[in-house]
Amino acid sequence: MVTLFVPGDAGAASLGANAVADELARECRRREWPIRVVRNGSRGLYWLEPLIEVATAGGRVAYGPVRASDVSALLDAGLLDGGPHALRLGDIERHEWLRSQQRITAARIGVVDPADIDDYIAHGGYAGLNAALAMPPNEVVRTVIASGLRGRGGAAFPSGIKWQTVLEQSAPQKYIACNADEGDSGTFADRMLMEGDPFTLIEGMTIAGLAVGATKGYIYLRVEYPHAARALARALHVARERGYLGRNLRNSGREFDIAVRLGAGAYICGEETSMLESLQGRRGEVRVRPPLPAIKGLFGEPTLVHNVVTLATVPLIISRGAKSYQELGVGKSRGTVLLQLAGNVKHGGLVERAFGLTVRELVYDYGGGSASGRPVRAVQIGGPLGAYLPEPEFDTLLEYEALTAKSALLGHAGVVVFDDTVDMARMARFALEFCAIESCGKCTPCRVGSTRGVELMDRIIARKGAVNGELSLLDELCDTMLNGSLCGLGGLTPFPVRSALKHFPEDFR
Ligand SMILES: Cc1cc2nc3c(=O)[nH]c(=O)nc-3n(C[C@H](O)[C@H](O)[C@H](O)COP(=O)(O)O)c2cc1C
Ligand code: SF4
Repeated sequence: MVTLFVPGDAGAASLGANAVADELARECRRREWPIRVVRNGSRGLYWLEPLIEVATAGGRVAYGPVRASDVSALLDAGLLDGGPHALRLGDIERHEWLRSQQRITAARIGVVDPADIDDYIAHGGYAGLNAALAMPPNEVVRTVIASGLRGRGGAAFPSGIKWQTVLEQSAPQKYIACNADEGDSGTFADRMLMEGDPFTLIEGMTIAGLAVGATKGYIYLRVEYPHAARALARALHVARERGYLGRNLRNSGREFDIAVRLGAGAYICGEETSMLESLQGRRGEVRVRPPLPAIKGLFGEPTLVHNVVTLATVPLIISRGAKSYQELGVGKSRGTVLLQLAGNVKHGGLVERAFGLTVRELVYDYGGGSASGRPVRAVQIGGPLGAYLPEPEFDTLLEYEALTAKSALLGHAGVVVFDDTVDMARMARFALEFCAIESCGKCTPCRVGSTRGVELMDRIIARKGAVNGELSLLDELCDTMLNGSLCGLGGLTPFPVRSALKHFPEDFR
């Protein structure tokens, strides 16, 4: 029986992976060739999807991009033995794109069967939980602090400090809340992890629960991720059946379980206090802080809120020790970052590297430049609220402090590429319009300011040439939103607007 890997990942599926899997099954049945098809995650080389692999005696051999109409010819060419064909890529782990990466958080994505807990364990899974069960909770927390891990959802707050705060609270019930809303444009690392290696997130949440004294976890998953919902439901069921979740997990006398809740499609529900409101069945509206969620969070109880990538990184920190993680990176940005390259780029996908890669290396060495073949003019880093960086600034390091020094932010590490046809005044207008549409309405600078900003941008775009008064009004509006907004939606919208104005003034005049 030959094993074939065909990604069940939503991105690969959108490029025809399901049709390829069906055709492989049908054609092999017809030829009476026994095969087993594993629906793995994507390796993250999206321009080569659907990328299929066959397990041979000499290792896995990849082919891509494969269409359903290629299947018959591939089988004729000896696909099941890794035979030669124009689409043959060989051992994909030796492909420069992957070979040059430092995949540790994303190490198992595309490698393992996301539905098979034994495959997960065979690839090092649950080593972190086993280690955590042998440690007192405060030692687990100390390890996270020592690793230098910072939240990957956007705010980059030191994770261990939050763990310590929740640990120190005495309360009848504490919670772990995983933020899987992944609302930033051009981001997909959370999705890839949940679809391709869901047990890692489950393990990370379990370790967090045991460490801070929480017995219940929630994954707040955006409704637009049905593939991830299915992968999580399957994995949670298996983990429970095999004693990795629930009462007395792994015969430890300890308890932890996880439930998934679907969001309803609002960007603001990714903001942690809105997410907690939404989890409680209320309208997704920002809560005033303090109190911090770590002290008074879900249902008024201490809650550890973390992004998917943050939690999925915990198992390897606990199993390998803080030092091995802390040694990677630059400055205060320790460990690796899961960069997501998208937009007008030739080779888009997932790049996991220690912090310290430059924008230029990412866009050209990995991305291969623009997909249109035209000069790259700008990138937007960190989602719709991130700053635009012009090409001359591409030697900036992709790490928290270097980007802050450029009035930019890393956010969830999405990088969207634009060629020289982009109109930056329109992109500034888009940022304000996005804010106006997604505003929760709680505070005036964001609710009213964003709408006035769209009107102002419309005047600027319509009357290029005589707009100096309007440009200073725009700057003043940005100042008000930046300093007067209650949360990051209104507070960060000035980043794309001001960076567009600063680096591309010619588009506004
Ligand atoms: C408008 C807005 C949207 C956000 N959306 C997300 C999101 O989709 N996913 C996420 O993990 N964090 C998001 N955040 C950040 C969260 O508020 C919070 O900082 C994060 O979930 C904490 O997890 P971390 O410590 O692992 O980063 C958003 C913040 C703001 C202000
Ligand atoms: S900044 Fe916008 S999204 Fe945030 S609380 Fe104020 S109105 Fe709501």
